[in-house]
Amino acid sequence: MAHYLLLWFLASSYLHASVNSCIDEERRALLTFKEDVTDPSGRLSSWVGFDCCQWKGISCNNITGRVEMMNLQNAYMYTLSAFDGEWDEMEYSSLGGKVNPSLLSLKHLNYLDLSRNDFRGISIPEFFGQLKSLRYLNLSSASFGGEIPPHLGNLPNLNYLDLGEESDYSLLELPSENLNWLSRLSSLKYLNLKGLDLSNTGVNWLNVVNMLPFLVELHLSSCQIQSLPPPGNISLASLLILDVSFNDLKFPFPEWFFNLTNLRKLDLRGNSLSGPFPIEFESLKSLEHLDLSFNSLKGQVPKLRGSFCNLKILNLAQNQFDGGIQELLGGLSSCPNSVLESLDLSSNMLNSQLPASLGMLRNLKFLTLYNNNMNGSIPESLGQLSQLVHLDLSLNPWEGFLTESHFINLTRLKYFAVGRVDPNPILPIPLTFNVSYDWVPPFMLHKINIGYCKVGPAFGVWLQSQTKLLFVKLRATGISDSIPEDWFLKISSQAQYLDLSYNQIHGKLPLQLKFSYALILDLSHNQFHGPLPLWSGDNVVRFKLEMNSFSGPIPWNLDQKFPKLESLYLAENHLNGTIPPSICNMRNLLVLSLRSNQLSGEFPREWSLLPNILILDAAYNNLSGKLPSSMGASGSLFMLKMNNNNLEGEIPLSLENCTSLRNIDLGDNKFTGKIPSWIGLNASFVSILRLRSNFLSGHIPQELCNLENLHILDLALNSFSGTIPKCLNNVTALKVSYYSAYNIYLEYDQQTTVMKGRELQYNTSLMFVKSIDLSANNLEGEIPEEISSLVLLHNLNLSMNQLRGDIPLEIGKLVQLENLDLSHNQLSGQIPQSLSHLTFLSYLNLSYNNLSGRIPLGNQLQTLPESIYEGNPLLCGFPLSIACLEGGNPTTKDPKDNDNEDGHDELWFFVSMALGFIVGFWSVCGTLFLKKSWRHAYFQWFDAIKDKAMLRL
Ligand SMILES: *[C@@H]1O[C@H](CO)[C@@H](O)[C@H](O)[C@H]1NC(C)=O
Ligand SMILES: *[C@@H]1O[C@H](CO)[C@@H](O)[C@H](O)[C@H]1NC(C)=O
Ligand SMILES: *[C@@H]1O[C@H](CO)[C@@H](O)[C@H](O)[C@H]1NC(C)=O
Ligand SMILES: *[C@@H]1O[C@H](CO)[C@@H](O)[C@H](O)[C@H]1NC(C)=O
Ligand SMILES: *[C@@H]1O[C@H](CO)[C@@H](O)[C@H](O)[C@H]1NC(C)=O
Repeated sequence: MAHYLLLWFLASSYLHASVNSCIDEERRALLTFKEDVTDPSGRLSSWVGFDCCQWKGISCNNITGRVEMMNLQNAYMYTLSAFDGEWDEMEYSSLGGKVNPSLLSLKHLNYLDLSRNDFRGISIPEFFGQLKSLRYLNLSSASFGGEIPPHLGNLPNLNYLDLGEESDYSLLELPSENLNWLSRLSSLKYLNLKGLDLSNTGVNWLNVVNMLPFLVELHLSSCQIQSLPPPGNISLASLLILDVSFNDLKFPFPEWFFNLTNLRKLDLRGNSLSGPFPIEFESLKSLEHLDLSFNSLKGQVPKLRGSFCNLKILNLAQNQFDGGIQELLGGLSSCPNSVLESLDLSSNMLNSQLPASLGMLRNLKFLTLYNNNMNGSIPESLGQLSQLVHLDLSLNPWEGFLTESHFINLTRLKYFAVGRVDPNPILPIPLTFNVSYDWVPPFMLHKINIGYCKVGPAFGVWLQSQTKLLFVKLRATGISDSIPEDWFLKISSQAQYLDLSYNQIHGKLPLQLKFSYALILDLSHNQFHGPLPLWSGDNVVRFKLEMNSFSGPIPWNLDQKFPKLESLYLAENHLNGTIPPSICNMRNLLVLSLRSNQLSGEFPREWSLLPNILILDAAYNNLSGKLPSSMGASGSLFMLKMNNNNLEGEIPLSLENCTSLRNIDLGDNKFTGKIPSWIGLNASFVSILRLRSNFLSGHIPQELCNLENLHILDLALNSFSGTIPKCLNNVTALKVSYYSAYNIYLEYDQQTTVMKGRELQYNTSLMFVKSIDLSANNLEGEIPEEISSLVLLHNLNLSMNQLRGDIPLEIGKLVQLENLDLSHNQLSGQIPQSLSHLTFLSYLNLSYNNLSGRIPLGNQLQTLPESIYEGNPLLCGFPLSIACLEGGNPTTKDPKDNDNEDGHDELWFFVSMALGFIVGFWSVCGTLFLKKSWRHAYFQWFDAIKDKAMLRL
């Protein structure tokens, strides 16, 4: 007995030993490999000691102890929108350097994965072709470059070959023998060549893959394939998955394609498919997953007749399908039962109602109709989709009501989005939630995204019951309740995104809350009052409380509460006290908006600490003293709005470092001195320069003419003297329509400008306004003739100066002009006939000059009142009651009393232009929390506003 025991003991310890130790030769081979590899993050640091089978990424056969697997894939993945930090992480943990042929000693290696590393364009080693045991080879996204060695064709056992490139941009090229090496890989089941340029292979690629009898999965995404080759003897009998997304394929497809009747998954995303959905697809009867998104398909959403009864996933997003989905549902109704689990019709042009037969899609888990034009009411049968997890009905102009029945069986729903994007929340809301106050829904959502859709006035129990929310967007939902405190407490502890903006939520906010996960907090445009809450959040980048009734001071330690804050919006409240200098410790700050409060005192001197600030808006406060000379040290500013304060002193010279400035508004202060020449010399992108109503003097500098992008020049109500620079006609923005990415910064909320003594607020459209206002100065000399070349000008106000001479003869070239005020000068001569060409002119004032002769007739001039000519005794003709003599001189003098001096104080100007990026915002929010990199990309885009692209402009 003891004998046996001993034997057993020996045997098992022998086995044990063999399991745990690797072959010495293989261990040394691995160490040699390690020596040649760069590994900044120390991923191979476990490669020490004798037992290489325990090393990270290495697996051995548990009987022979031979190394069989090497998995050195980098955990960080490339994503299209990866932002800098993420790139860094990915770079850092990448392996690189050389691949030592010592690997040839691993005779039993059957699995080699070097994907997602960075070998900086070195060639794939030829010796890989001698690793005869290889069954799995993954070199994707590893930045191997140059020609693929045809030696890879010598791997008879290879089942799996991935040479794809996630970023779509492969450094690899086909070898001169083209794809023939591939045809020798007769065991291949999986092939991925994503990103490789196959455009020169012609028919060959197809013939080659056709020779792989066991091929199950083929990925040829982004391979620049122009067309599918014409008939041949194509069988591809074992192919189940075909991915030819992001190529340039067009219909019609050759006949053989529709013979691929075994296909389970077909991905045709992002090609150039147009026209109606070809009926031939119906022969692909085994399809479970069909993706035709991002094409230009038109017409009815395809009727999926009996042949598509296996379809589980159908993606038709981003096409131009119109009509409704009745057809689709009608077709599916012929199947014994619908197995459809996912239906994506987002971003098409669907424009009819949602049919009640929707309820028959009993297995539907994912439904998105986002961004269409579907109208009418949403059918109650929606409530029967008991498997539904993700429901996105947003961005459609629905009408009618959502009732409890709409949700009755939606027990699994986690994501719900409905509503539309509407930059004007004042418009009536046509879709209304009509549920009882006490209703407790069957679902427990993780994300709710409701915008411009009536949910309120009460903050109902159904909302309060949603205590697992991570993403909350209830924007413009008509809620005029207070926030239930328990719910808010719960949400604050878990939410990543919280947007309750554009409601009428009132009451005070809990003063102390910690938002551990939140990135965005937006409670703007409500009726909260009381002091600003002292919340904190380590991850919060965007904090918006603007347009409420908060009062009292700005907390002195916001910098400690929100260490990562990038944008702070406190505008339009009743905040008072001084701006705490600690704000300048928020080193990530890009946007600081304090507009329209009662803040007083000086602007903090520590300003220079903010290295990245783009937008500073402290307009409409009671700030006094000088602007700090440190302002501008960081040089990043795009927008500086300090208008309507009590600031004094000169415009700081230090701002000359702000070469990115686009918008300077220092109007309505007490600034003195001259316009600094840096404005035209260094800050050459300035498009809005508003210095109105200060005590500035001196000449209008010639340098302003360098501002190619200038749209608005408002120097009115100062003491400028000298003449109007003739060179103003260099300002191309007033001549050539100019539109580019940098204008996105104008997305920054409400812009204000003052024209005609009346303040007008308008949104993002400021970029289209072209205006020059030099009124109420001491300017003299003539109006330069050159001004008539600024053909995009909408507003020209030169009134209340001492200008002489004639009105430029060609003023009629300013065909966009809506407002022209030359009153209260000493202009003489005749009114140019060309003035009658100005068909948009709605305000004209020529009063109080020395103009003479016949008033021109025609177009708009006919409709303008008489008062616009008064104070010019030598004028005659309609609309004056003074007839002209033959020579064009008036018959009598008839000085009319000026009863309507401020008749010009009328609203003359209105611009409304909705910009597309609001739409983009909505779509991004939906997916914001799917991917870290997306989130960052989003903030980059939305918060950084300018973005680096613009800085490079
Ligand atoms: C060895 O590996 C095989 C396959 O991985 C596994 O099925 C088996 O249980 C393992 N044997 C031992 C002794 O760990
Ligand atoms: C399609 O398949 C059928 C039968 O399997 C065959 O007769 C026909 O020739 C094939 N057509 C093409 C274009 O390959
Ligand atoms: C809801 O689901 C239950 C159980 O699955 C079913 O009996 C009931 O008929 C469904 N109600 C509706 C309105 O679909
Ligand atoms: C700020 O406003 C409050 C009233 O809202 C007032 O009591 C307080 O004195 C003000 N503080 C300053 C510095 O003006
Ligand atoms: C402007 O920038 C330069 C270089 O970055 C710096 O040396 C200088 O001090 C800055 N000027 C002002 C006034 O901040």
